[in-house]
Amino acid sequence: MEGEEQFDENGLPGPGAPTPLSALDGVSGLTARDIKLFVDAGYNTVESVAYTPKRLLEQIKGISEQKATKILVEASKLVPMGFTTATEMHARRSELISVTTGSKRLDTLLGGGVETGSITEIFGEFRTGKSQICHTLAVTCQLPFDMGGGEGKCLYIDTEGTFRPVRLLAVAQRYGLVGEEVLDNVAYARAYNSDHQLQLLNQASQMMCETRFSLLVVDSATSLYRTDFNGRGELASRQTHLAKFMRTLQRLADEFGIAVVITNQVVAQVDGGPSAMFNPDPKKPIGGNIIAHASTTRLSLKKGRGETRICKIYDSPCLPESDCLFAINDDGIGDPSEKDLEDK
Ligand SMILES: Nc1ncnc2c1ncn2[C@@H]1O[C@H](COP(=O)(O)OP(=O)(O)OP(=O)(O)O)[C@@H](O)[C@H]1O
Ligand SMILES: [Mg+2]
Repeated sequence: MEGEEQFDENGLPGPGAPTPLSALDGVSGLTARDIKLFVDAGYNTVESVAYTPKRLLEQIKGISEQKATKILVEASKLVPMGFTTATEMHARRSELISVTTGSKRLDTLLGGGVETGSITEIFGEFRTGKSQICHTLAVTCQLPFDMGGGEGKCLYIDTEGTFRPVRLLAVAQRYGLVGEEVLDNVAYARAYNSDHQLQLLNQASQMMCETRFSLLVVDSATSLYRTDFNGRGELASRQTHLAKFMRTLQRLADEFGIAVVITNQVVAQVDGGPSAMFNPDPKKPIGGNIIAHASTTRLSLKKGRGETRICKIYDSPCLPESDCLFAINDDGIGDPSEKDLEDK
């Protein structure tokens, strides 16, 4: 079978090197037309199919239950999905790279930087530096590995219209990169509503099949949901849609080994429960359990003195709850000046 031979030549897919779905063309009666239907629905790689429940594959237009079963069986043969040892898992995790934030203190707090293969959520009030961190990462993700980079391009989804290429140029200059090249390596899209935001991930996955990306930014992940869905009556459908969006993000992180960074706003906590009495500043991130559970690492930002900001680990599978100071400088995220540190 042609498809299988083609796959064998390419070897087994490692992290960050997914197998295009075309590898299954001709395998077990799957036709080029079938493959196209899956690709059109956003499944560009063998991994994406293997990670998806059969029920969702069956919902794709033109795909019968039998075809869905068949492709799932074939995809599962190629993608290791069974048990492994902790030793193997440890070795695999040590291969995961982290992308530098531009601040040594922040990198140390994060255990090296922003982790690839997972979702990092940054939340905080306005002007706390969420978008500035995204801008810096959009450049540092392009750096070589030995400089703390991810050696890949950046995909930037902007929902608030706050993306400013000039900020990238300033960061590029700091790292001695050619400004034009840095901008060329950032694929930018403005999302106009929550459906569109989800659709863009579909395109993102196609682009990631073609070129190496190391970072996907969504700034912010929740703002369009707040405007598209109103009130309690639409809360359930909002959360379902948001869950689908987050699941797709996680799939991209798994499939392509990229770092996914999302930003989120905070709202005043209105439950009036006992926590409100002891917490002088009861603000919580938007999106409830859906965002909370889908984000691997959650970072909370607060304003500090001057250009300094405080970043606190709010939730992480392996980092302690601690915080650090960083600064928003003209050339991107950096460490606070001696003066600001003394004042603290
Ligand atoms: N060129 C620059 N040099 C230094 N600091 C800057 C520069 N540009 C912006 N800032 C700082 O960045 C802050 C804004 O940060 P940012 O846009 O990341 O906030 P945000 O958390 O994304 O807020 P929002 O919730 O409104 O999107 C401003 O308060 C400003 O102090
Ligand atoms: Mg912002």
